[in-house]
Amino acid sequence: MTNQSPVTGLTAEEVLTTTRTVRRRLDLGRPVEREVVEDCLRIAFQAPNGSNVQSYRWIVVDDPATRRAMAEVYRAALGDQLAASERARAAGARSVYPTGAAQDRISRSVTHLVDHMHEVPVLVVPTFTGRFDAAGMFDQASAWGSVLPAVWNFMLALRTRGLGSAWTTLHLHREREMAEVLGIPHEHTTQAGLFPVAYTLGTDFRPGPRADLERLVHWNRWPNEDRPEAVAFGHKEG
Ligand SMILES: Cc1cc2nc3c(=O)[nH]c(=O)nc-3n(C[C@H](O)[C@H](O)[C@H](O)COP(=O)(O)O)c2cc1C
Repeated sequence: MTNQSPVTGLTAEEVLTTTRTVRRRLDLGRPVEREVVEDCLRIAFQAPNGSNVQSYRWIVVDDPATRRAMAEVYRAALGDQLAASERARAAGARSVYPTGAAQDRISRSVTHLVDHMHEVPVLVVPTFTGRFDAAGMFDQASAWGSVLPAVWNFMLALRTRGLGSAWTTLHLHREREMAEVLGIPHEHTTQAGLFPVAYTLGTDFRPGPRADLERLVHWNRWPNEDRPEAVAFGHKEG
């Protein structure tokens, strides 16, 4: 038993701190073997899930025509998101998204992924049983909390093998359309996101910019001076 990852030689801490959102450095020309994806999924499924029911199903797509159709839904959903953000701004709502150079960089990177999504060798859509649109907080938290740890495990496992992904939720503006593309029984199934999977161009990723502990952590009690502002998400299921 080694504490280093099998392919990249990274330690557990390096894997945990350098598993980034990869968009521009996805190797679109190198095929991804099904066995590698399945190895990473077996690792993903070791994540905790409510009562160990494992009520998820993962759709893994390497068929080129289906990937093209998925990429079209994703592109249209970006349009939905931009329109929703614009409406929220026009209504004077404060956006949840920051502005400035860092956000511009992310936007360019997001656009790059939109333009190349159909070329990414494997697209993964984790789903879980049930619709939670009108569910109470316990049911929502239990449902989402039973799939998202596995998704993150999956991304970490990819990193240990020299692959990468990007956590994306944009297409959920058009969840029903994606369900039609993939044959997902939408009335009884929720999609958690869309995860493009490819080998990465190089494996030298660095920790991302994150806020200081002082801003994010309160010991013992929420202090009076930390008053979150109301924010507009501008999200709407189409
Ligand atoms: C819940 C969630 C939704 C996200 N949705 C998208 C998305 O739809 N498209 C995209 O390109 N990136 C998306 N991202 C990636 C974030 O932009 C990214 O995690 C963030 O900028 C920090 O970068 P890092 O992951 O490299 O540290 C999402 C991330 C999370 C956790």
